[in-house]
Order: sequence, then C-alpha cells, then structure tokens
Amino acid sequence: MSDIAPADMITVTDLRKSIRNGTRTVDILKGLDFSIPRGQFAAIMGSSGSGKSTLLGLLAGLDTPSSGDVALNGTAISYLPEDKLAQVRGRTIGFVFQSYQLIPTLTALENVLLPYELNGDSSSAEGNARSTGLARARSLLAGVGLGDRLDHYPVQLSGGEQQRVALARAFVLRPPIVLADEPTGNLDSANGAAVLELLLNLNRTEGTTLVLVTHDAVLAGYADRRITLRDGRIVSDERNASPGEGSTE
Ligand SMILES: Nc1ncnc2c1ncn2[C@@H]1O[C@H](COP(=O)(O)OP(=O)(O)OP(=O)(O)O)[C@@H](O)[C@H]1O
Ligand SMILES: [Mg+2]
Repeated sequence: MSDIAPADMITVTDLRKSIRNGTRTVDILKGLDFSIPRGQFAAIMGSSGSGKSTLLGLLAGLDTPSSGDVALNGTAISYLPEDKLAQVRGRTIGFVFQSYQLIPTLTALENVLLPYELNGDSSSAEGNARSTGLARARSLLAGVGLGDRLDHYPVQLSGGEQQRVALARAFVLRPPIVLADEPTGNLDSANGAAVLELLLNLNRTEGTTLVLVTHDAVLAGYADRRITLRDGRIVSDERNASPGEGSTE
C-alpha cells in the first residue's frame, strides 16, 4: 500500500483469461498490458467476441483472471478475498452492464439510489446521505432525459431508457472510475448524443476515469484514447490528439 495516489487509475499486467469448455481450453484474453491514467476517457473497441466484455468484467473485479493482475488506484484486486474486493469495488467503480441489470421491482429512481442503500455511508447522518443521494439521482436521471420517468418500473421503460437508468446508477456515488459496456448501444442518435454529453461532462467536472466498450465510432471519436482488441489481444492503442474532431459520420 502506498499513501501517494498513483498517477494511473487502472493498471493491467499480463492479464490472461482462459475458460475450460469440456476438454478444450478457450483462451479469451491472451496477455494484456496497459495503464489508464486518472481522468482519462478510454474507448475499448473490437469486433464481437474479441474479449471486450470479459476485459471489462476483470477490470471491475466481477471476474477473476487466469493469470496476471488488475490494480485500481494502486490496489491489486484480482486475488483479494470477496469481502475486501466488494469494499474496493463499492467505493471505486460504477459499472454499466451490456444487459443493464436493473432491479425489476424498483422504480427508475430507486434503481439509481440502490448503490446508496448498499454502500450507506456510516460516517454521515443517514438522513443527510439519503437526501444528497436523492438530489444526485434526480439530477442524473434528468441529465439522461428521464426526469419525467422517475417512478416508472423497468418493464415500463424502453430498452434505451433502461440503459440510461443503468448509466445514471453507475455515477450516483461519484466513483472515481466508471466502466460501461456499450452505453449507447440501444440509443438513437439524439439520446446517444445526450448520454455522450453527460459522460463528457462528468469526465470533465468530476474527473471520472471512463472506460467504455463501444462500437460507436462517433462516441469513440470523443475519447482521449482508443484501445482495439482482436482475438484477445491489443492490436492498437491510439491517443486521440483532438477528441471530438475528425469523427465524421
Ligand atoms: N463462459 C464462457 N465460456 C466459454 N467461452 C466464453 C465464455 N464467456 C465468453 N466466452 C467467449 O469469449 C470470447 C469473448 O467474449 P466477450 O463477451 O468478452 O466478447 P465481446 O468482445 O464483448 O463481444 P460483443 O461485442 O459481442 O459483446 C467470445 O468468443 C465468447 O464466446
Ligand atoms: Mg460484449
């Protein structure tokens, strides 16, 4: 442990993931090395099956690598016991799943507030934390264009609306890192642009380190960096000198 905050928010060292499938072993990630500096907005690209979601799950500590390691803000997470890992995850990561994973029995607003319920801050008065959380949740939902859908349940929301609720939920605790799997995958261009604006705004104003898996060239054009996977390896890692420019579509 170090008491100096490391410059890199995420460090990936010779990360490998293989899965045994009957008698065969499938190598999904074949030795990845990279670091994401604090505050960077990185896009992970690559064709279907190249290992993007597997990588994101490992970055979040939702899955264990076969070998290699992931460090978040200086803490190696890959082999931590589950209770320690849950602690680090809870205060470090906001995650947006490719399949949203909203709780069906909770409204949009309650879904966004869920991380507050799960990671209740015992150091502040509970009522205070809750009202702060409520204001933050409402403003995030308004930011993704769902200010008038707070009391809707997931079944009463379209796929794209559910996706936006999941995005708001990922940011509600102001995590230093947000990992999102295809956050605009189900959105039309107007809503995609609104989500992009929210992401860029949170990246700038709160310094959130963002790692997004995306097929969307426009979205990737706004990233500071594009990492492309092919067949479980990094085949390109490019800095974008002027994010937002040159991504005509
Ligand atoms: N539990 C598993 N067992 C066997 N193979 C798996 C398992 N999970 C993933 N894979 C394989 O690993 C590869 C990478 O999967 P992954 O979901 O990471 O791809 P992806 O890049 O996210 O694709 P997409 O763009 O379609 O979401 C795929 O070929 C997939 O079939
Ligand atoms: Mg995927």
